[in-house]
Amino acid sequence: MEERVLSIEDLRLSFPLYQAEAQVLNSVSLHVNRGEIVGVVGESGSGKSVTAMMAMRLLTPDTYRIHSGRVDLLGTDMLAAPETTLRTLRGSKVAMIFQEPMTALNPTRRIGKQMVDVIRQHRPLSQREARAHAASLLADMQIADPLRVMDRYPFELSGGMRQRVMIALAFSCDPDLLIADEPTTALDVTVQRQVLRLLKQKARATNTAVLFISHDMAVISQLCDRLYVMYVGSVIESGKTGTLLHHPQHPYTIGLLNSAPDTHEPRSALPSIPGTVPNLAALPTGCVFRERCFAAGAACGNVPPLRQIGESDRAIACWYPQLENVHV
Ligand SMILES: Nc1ncnc2c1ncn2[C@@H]1O[C@H](COP(=O)(O)OP(=O)(O)O)[C@@H](O)[C@H]1O
Ligand SMILES: [Mg+2]
Repeated sequence: MEERVLSIEDLRLSFPLYQAEAQVLNSVSLHVNRGEIVGVVGESGSGKSVTAMMAMRLLTPDTYRIHSGRVDLLGTDMLAAPETTLRTLRGSKVAMIFQEPMTALNPTRRIGKQMVDVIRQHRPLSQREARAHAASLLADMQIADPLRVMDRYPFELSGGMRQRVMIALAFSCDPDLLIADEPTTALDVTVQRQVLRLLKQKARATNTAVLFISHDMAVISQLCDRLYVMYVGSVIESGKTGTLLHHPQHPYTIGLLNSAPDTHEPRSALPSIPGTVPNLAALPTGCVFRERCFAAGAACGNVPPLRQIGESDRAIACWYPQLENVHV
């Protein structure tokens, strides 16, 4: 069996609100194997970021409740481990990048100094060696003049450059797993594609596993080996990227694919999913998608379990899977 760097099993999590309880994760299970690039895709509010944060247990303590589940990150039981263990793991084995790199970079310090600090926390290098290493990491991100960039402050760089710096920084500790939460969402399409290509190259070259989170099906399918589709706190379909793109079975996945702009042949009308995401504090009974679903039927009053179909890693939670659907 392949080695798992991250495994989340049956995670149920809620946020107690003023007079109700928001059920944010509803039995989420997913895993990432060593060196694998795995995507989590779904509309805004589906619980992607909360899942990513819980992989590293970064949610503010005492704000949420866990009802069941396990999170195993590189052999550490993340729900039970003491804070000191978590901190060591976060700094050395797992890196995380977010949508807005300005919040992760210190605005008052030059890029090079920040990189050198991070590198020297992980490796016994002199100042000079660390600078050289920083420059080579930036060069890997196809930054042509790394030394000049290292002398700049974050605000002096474009969004795309800042995100490349963040990726370089994330790889500086040789992580086993990189968690990337919408890292390119703020960038325009061309820059986004470039940054994703560099991220993928670097991950492959270093055999780093990536958990990549995005609301954008086009982005995620360009990058990932395998996908999980989330809807309102549940994984509703999963599988290898190619299988899921060409033979989606869940009506929600089909809707997402039809909503994603097709970069090759723009369609005149983009069919999308009617309605809106339900209120988490008052979820409908049965299948959470049924009110928006074109295939809903009598069985949908009961929650469909996520069950494995066909090849391993392929699973679906739907009473009426669309077996004949072929998406091109
Ligand atoms: N600290 C919090 N307190 C209450 N609700 C939260 C908190 N963090 C996230 N949520 C809610 O959890 C749901 C899932 O959020 P999130 O994981 O950020 O979604 P996504 O990343 O898929 O857009 C949202 O409805 C969000 O409002
Ligand atoms: Mg999010």
